Amino acid sequence: MQRPPQHVGFGRVKRIHERRVIALRDGTQIVIGGLPLPRQSEMFDPAISFVPRPGNETSLSQAVHGAADLGFMHPCTLANLACRETTIEAKVKQHAPFGAQHAVAVLVDLLKFAGGCFGGLIEEIGQEALQIELVVFHCAPLVSYKTNYYKRNRFRKGAEMTSHTKPSTMITAATTSGTHPGYMPGFGNDFETEALPGALPQGMNSPQKCNYGLYGEQLSGTAFTAPSHANERTWCYRIRPSVKHSGRYARIDLPYWKSAPHIPKDVTSLGQYRWDPVPHSDEKLTWLTGMRTMTTAGDVNTQVGMASHIYLVTDSMVDSYFYSADSELLIVPQEGSLRFCTELGVMDIAPQEIAIIPRGLVYRVEVLDGPARGFVCENYGQKFHLPSRGPIGANCMANRRDFKTPVAAFEDREVPSTVTIKWCGQFHETKIGHSPLDVVAWHGNYAPVKYDLNTYCPVGAVLFDHPDPSIFTVLTAPSGVEGTANIDFVLFRDRWMVAEDTFRPPWYHKNIMSELMGNIHGQYDAKPKGFVPGGMSLHNMMLPHGPDRNAFEGASNAELAPHKLDNTMSFMFETRFPQHLTEFAAKEAPLQDDYIDCWESLEKNFDGTPGKK
Ligand SMILES: [Fe+2]
Repeated sequence: MQRPPQHVGFGRVKRIHERRVIALRDGTQIVIGGLPLPRQSEMFDPAISFVPRPGNETSLSQAVHGAADLGFMHPCTLANLACRETTIEAKVKQHAPFGAQHAVAVLVDLLKFAGGCFGGLIEEIGQEALQIELVVFHCAPLVSYKTNYYKRNRFRKGAEMTSHTKPSTMITAATTSGTHPGYMPGFGNDFETEALPGALPQGMNSPQKCNYGLYGEQLSGTAFTAPSHANERTWCYRIRPSVKHSGRYARIDLPYWKSAPHIPKDVTSLGQYRWDPVPHSDEKLTWLTGMRTMTTAGDVNTQVGMASHIYLVTDSMVDSYFYSADSELLIVPQEGSLRFCTELGVMDIAPQEIAIIPRGLVYRVEVLDGPARGFVCENYGQKFHLPSRGPIGANCMANRRDFKTPVAAFEDREVPSTVTIKWCGQFHETKIGHSPLDVVAWHGNYAPVKYDLNTYCPVGAVLFDHPDPSIFTVLTAPSGVEGTANIDFVLFRDRWMVAEDTFRPPWYHKNIMSELMGNIHGQYDAKPKGFVPGGMSLHNMMLPHGPDRNAFEGASNAELAPHKLDNTMSFMFETRFPQHLTEFAAKEAPLQDDYIDCWESLEKNFDGTPGKK
């Protein structure tokens, strides 16, 4: 058989077209390997496993070298294969942190040989990493791979997000949905984790020289002098200090991501509002370009208030990183799943989970299952923490053990990259030549965290009436006024309704707090219609609201047997500050013009005569 031409080109990786690895013909050693670095559980699960054709089994060997997952072929094998003009097929698995658009890497050892093999287009460029697109036409469908080349042609261990070495002192997080390798349980714990053995200094924070040549650096989430119980900081041991992850800044515009104060002159925020789900479009959107601000409250410059957003994400961030100096982000997925590759580890979230990304933490977001849509509460103020339970005691509601923080993972990747920073409501870009996700080990209590909302243990009415909805608070961010939150995150999940002689849905009320609700899935009991998954509603400061006519009639006349409120999960971002609509929320998002009419048909039952009616 005459082979078609082979070609190697330099450039950005596009997309893996076929999950297959083709053997090369010659007698020289070639290493084919995977850059993707597995999470803990996949540590010994190679990224590429070779499936030799019959007759080649004994001459094919495979070696797995830690995180690099290198597949290895002996020269004799290749010579043998070359004579037979045989290809080797390989099963390829893609691991974190790669999304669908990432290719599994091929590393070709002995570049001179490879150059000859592929037509001389491969060259060594010193210490700088070079991403190439490797396209092989070889008796098989087109295969495209991405790889990094380094001086001396050596695959640098940890060139992508590494796995954790999982020393025995480190643990995995177990939940109702199983064990989650790669996470540590707890909320606000003093965690410690290392991706390479011995990378974390013990007994001190700033050794004269750190192991592996790492730099020690502190990330402070609270003022140095914050009280001990509220003081949050994390010590990072990283390949480069953060000052190397930023250069000169250039202002950029993300027109749909707004910050308070933002009060459009021609938009009225006085009213009860409800939206259908914001639909996806054909536009390719990343975590940054797909953020759509719905409301803003307070003032980002004085670190009070919040913004609510809808995100519509179809594309992963590639060589692009972000951090917000303005805020921590509380993320509530409603559709699709995302991977947050952060300085402190990799965290995947899907609907019915939430995540918190701390202020100042650098990350990129990849789409695991798209398109992805969800809600974000951008908290300008003090951090979210768990609410006091008071007389409830030491258990129930959100329990600390159910929160999960990722173990350390890092990238040693040298490619042109962009870091975008949100700072005082503005966005700026800086260009760097490497990945900033280079923290090899860390310890501290300022870290990203995720939480499975299905582990929330609701407490409620057991005889008559029901408590204020604050009984369902998952997280609260204080405002400085005791008991008056900058933001409460409140969850309305499935639960039993057992109260006797009680109007069971939320009662009618007016509230000094401003309530923004979102539906994650199912049906909300106070609004049987119109408030659908992906939809939102806003009941602003001192605006009355409550059950619609159908909900009122149904609840007023229902037989009050114990009843399971099932298939429901909604939430509320509640803030002490009035929430102002953005132009997007008022004019582009699917605002329901007739929402106010849902109370129109409520009747006057009073006729001056006594008796329950
Ligand atoms: Fe309310």
